[in-house]
Amino acid sequence: TVLVVDFGAQYAQLIARRVRECHVFSEIVPSTMPAAEMLARNPKAIILSGGPSSVYEPGAPAAPAGLFDLGVPTFGICYGHQVMAQALGGTVANSDIAEYGGATVAVTSPGMLFEGLPGEQAVWMSHRDFVSEAPAGFTVTASTDVTPVAGMEDRARGLYGVQFHPEVLHTAHGMEILRRFLYEGAGCRPNWTMVNIAEESIDAVRAQIGAKRAICGLSGGVDSAVAAALVQRAVGDQLTCVFVDHGLLRKGEAEQVEKDFVAATGVNLHVVDAQERFLDALAGVTDPEEKRKIIGREFIRVFEGAAREIAAAGAADDAPVEFLVQGTLYPDVVESGGGTGAANIKSHHNVGGLPDDLQFALVEPLRTLFKDEVRALGEQLGLPSEIVWRQPFPGPGLGIRIIGAVDRERLDILREADAIAREELTRAGLDRDVWQFPVVLLADVRSVGVQGDGRTYGHPIVLRPVTSEDAMTADWARLPYEVLQRISTRITNEVREINRVTVDITSKPPGTIEWE
Ligand code: XMP
Repeated sequence: TVLVVDFGAQYAQLIARRVRECHVFSEIVPSTMPAAEMLARNPKAIILSGGPSSVYEPGAPAAPAGLFDLGVPTFGICYGHQVMAQALGGTVANSDIAEYGGATVAVTSPGMLFEGLPGEQAVWMSHRDFVSEAPAGFTVTASTDVTPVAGMEDRARGLYGVQFHPEVLHTAHGMEILRRFLYEGAGCRPNWTMVNIAEESIDAVRAQIGAKRAICGLSGGVDSAVAAALVQRAVGDQLTCVFVDHGLLRKGEAEQVEKDFVAATGVNLHVVDAQERFLDALAGVTDPEEKRKIIGREFIRVFEGAAREIAAAGAADDAPVEFLVQGTLYPDVVESGGGTGAANIKSHHNVGGLPDDLQFALVEPLRTLFKDEVRALGEQLGLPSEIVWRQPFPGPGLGIRIIGAVDRERLDILREADAIAREELTRAGLDRDVWQFPVVLLADVRSVGVQGDGRTYGHPIVLRPVTSEDAMTADWARLPYEVLQRISTRITNEVREINRVTVDITSKPPGTIEWE
């Protein structure tokens, strides 16, 4: 493993992902972890991430004591580079001139990191402090106009640092530099591959579940589908999947789970048709958080009921249901261990989240993986690409895409419009360029239109295609006009109640991806 020491902000996750793109397993650890504990994880290498602090600020995070004496090859990036320089007797200075964005570094001595790479390179910088003097024993390998020590290394001790960000795509040779550190500097081998990940995870799940039984809630999303497929591979019929059809799904979604997923995995599926129940509970409710609470609560009740039935049905063959499979991903694991906690803007993770008093042990086979790795694993497990490449879809489903109260008629209108938008996006070959494409029905708004010879008084629909890496921030997707036009024409022609189609061109922030 390679440990990525997190000095704050979001840099560590990106670095960890890039290391894995080099086929080397990486884990994020807090900068407060003692060096001995890091060593106990037997790391092949350590990477110190960037961070928002200045090394001279009171309380600024420092390298754990003794870190540079562990004999583990270590690479400091940005703040990590400064921390390394300061800890080993170099000088970090504060400059009046910040260096943000693109810059050119000149390689002054190729050393190990820059060997075989061009003498001038485009890099991405984001700093104000800089290393003015490298510690004794280090060679300066690169510099820019404002940064005398943009790269340094002490090869004998296996210590390397760069001021720029090799993990961002704007750094032309970033991945090569990272690969050089991992393979040449640290002797890592590229053995983190999907084949190995799948095999190891299947073995681990088999060992955990043994001869017992497990259940898994399917949401129709990628994560639960891949988790279920993996557990199915590991323990076969000992797994039963539960799919709650709450009536807030998109067109064809229930069928996709019931047919395609079962066909691809051969999993035992227990479907609960709970449409009436959800619609009754939601009748007349307009407040978004209230909707989420109701949907979350009903979901849990239905799921618990199904779990009891499955457990009871299995009592005859004497294996109790002891495990609950969940598709928890690595970013959730990192963030929930990460302390500070972002403000609760929408109560996302409560929906579909099950209560603590469910008496199951958790099986979380994806908890070391990032989203893109989960997709690759899904493909490795033979899931159809319509499932693996699905856009993320919120647990409360179309319930939070109807602005106003939810009822069957409104759901049908939205389902039709949404299906058209998705169909045209797919036809244009743009599925993978768009992160998510909510279609939102403004159910309490009416506007005047004209269709044929008649005046209409229908509802507007909002198209909300966005691009994003992780849903934390997003930008509105610049869909080609022709695609927008086809969607608009088809929706107004084919969905009678809709007489206006609009496009949301707000980024996040300040908007959110969903309207509720
Ligand atoms: P926002 O609208 O906050 O959404 O920009 C960020 C991401 O979260 C999804 N989302 C939800 N997912 N339950 C979920 O499981 C929810 O209540 C929920 N609300 C938003 C949204 O689709 C986007 O991917």
